[in-house]
Amino acid sequence: MEFSIKALSPESAKAGCVVLGVYANKELTPPAKRVDQASRGALSAALADLPGKAGATLLLRGLPGVAAERVLLVGLGERKQLAEPAFRDAVRGAAAALRELGAKDAVLTLVDLAVGKRPVSWNVRHAVLGLREAFYRFDQLKTQKKPGAPALAEVILPLSAKAELQAALKEAAATADGMALARTLGNLPPNICTPSYLAEEAGRIAKQFKLPLKVLERREMEKLGMGSFLAVARGSHQAPKLIVLRYNGGKKGKKPLALVGKGITFDTGGISLKPAGEMDEMKYDMSGAASVLGTIRALAGMKAPVNVVGIIPACENMPGGAATKPGDVVTTLSGQTVEILNTDAEGRLILCDALTYAERFEPEAVIDIATLTGACVIALGHVATGLFSNDDKLAAEIIAAADDAWDRVWRMPLWEDYQEQLRSNFADMANIGGRPAGSVTAACFLARFTKKQRWAHLDIAGTAWRGGREKGSTGRPVPLLVRLALRKP
Ligand code: BES
Ligand code: MN
Ligand code: ZN
Repeated sequence: MEFSIKALSPESAKAGCVVLGVYANKELTPPAKRVDQASRGALSAALADLPGKAGATLLLRGLPGVAAERVLLVGLGERKQLAEPAFRDAVRGAAAALRELGAKDAVLTLVDLAVGKRPVSWNVRHAVLGLREAFYRFDQLKTQKKPGAPALAEVILPLSAKAELQAALKEAAATADGMALARTLGNLPPNICTPSYLAEEAGRIAKQFKLPLKVLERREMEKLGMGSFLAVARGSHQAPKLIVLRYNGGKKGKKPLALVGKGITFDTGGISLKPAGEMDEMKYDMSGAASVLGTIRALAGMKAPVNVVGIIPACENMPGGAATKPGDVVTTLSGQTVEILNTDAEGRLILCDALTYAERFEPEAVIDIATLTGACVIALGHVATGLFSNDDKLAAEIIAAADDAWDRVWRMPLWEDYQEQLRSNFADMANIGGRPAGSVTAACFLARFTKKQRWAHLDIAGTAWRGGREKGSTGRPVPLLVRLALRKP
């Protein structure tokens, strides 16, 4: 899908479809008014059939005096409060209708609307991301592909072509590429998307964009002393990988942002085996890793002037004769010891070693991204990612980026009071803290390994994937991470 910014008039654009916004009170946006005049009121005459809610659509064909084959009316909700959710609903509604009708090219006029206090560049970014998201398909494993019209190939955003808007377009298109990559990695089944597959995917990105890549094998990790990460990998026949992919688009010597992504390509729970119901969903347990690869793909694709190091501990969590047992005590890369009371709390065990490893890059900040706890899904559902941080300024920057990307987070506490729950009689700490505040104690565990760093933890257990009929990976939080990397500190 190609996007371009071109000043043109909606009534004379020769396109498969022109998308026009209408408020709930039937008030037309300026481009819709022009089309209405050109068609001598044919548009107004049809308005009664358009429901008032944002995202509702009505398709009109062959309007007199209008060059486009079709006109798609999209509801914008109440005019007074045209804000981010309504704009996004309108874009999504339009995208769904465009997909249905199989238009090859479209003019999307909605981008000139004033959305809250956002600049037009915000509209451009969200229009591109919304459309690309809606047209994403994962059908590579179906032998019978859905026959259908060719997908939307060209979208014109009718605006005057300013440099700032062109930059927004480029950023959004690259972000959409990164998001699609993250989604596909999440959707791939666990027999295909193994730790080695993630390493190979990192290799493809490294090759395409000429990025430095290092993949550490079990041997090297043993030498380093990553006893905690390797304890998780023990039960699996798949070799663990520590993937280190760098993107250096910024000034030489500028400290990188470190992104650490949980890469459990399948989480059975290990000896503390999970119940069978919906266990297939544990293939998404590498979504943190996927978001790191997607973010680096996006930044490289837009040639962003930033330095980033992506660190991905990848392995399976399996039961087996060699698997780690409840009660085992392991020594982490930091030297601290952990009593593994539950082998299903494995994410923190691989992340702690990766977070310690991140120190050697002297990052300006380190952020880990992980489908870490079911408790986070209970706390925040599928709407907000859980944010934990030992640095208020970093937390504020993440919240601002998340808000801008509409890939929202909610900050949770990391108070010392919770640390007590991790007490162990036999080691420096236990790897679980009981049921109360499960997402907080998981973060508190990680905090013990990041004392020397500006650190934040994103628990994406609820936001990285959707269950039910529309089951699948979402590509979150790639939009947030890209915006964060691009921030001006
Ligand atoms: N990968 C899971 C967390 C998870 C659960 C992600 C549901 C997405 C949906 C994680 O490794 C896990 O199993 N966590 C346990 C921790 C518990 C044993 C302390 C959990 O949340 O139940
Ligand atoms: Mn688990
Ligand atoms: Zn897990």
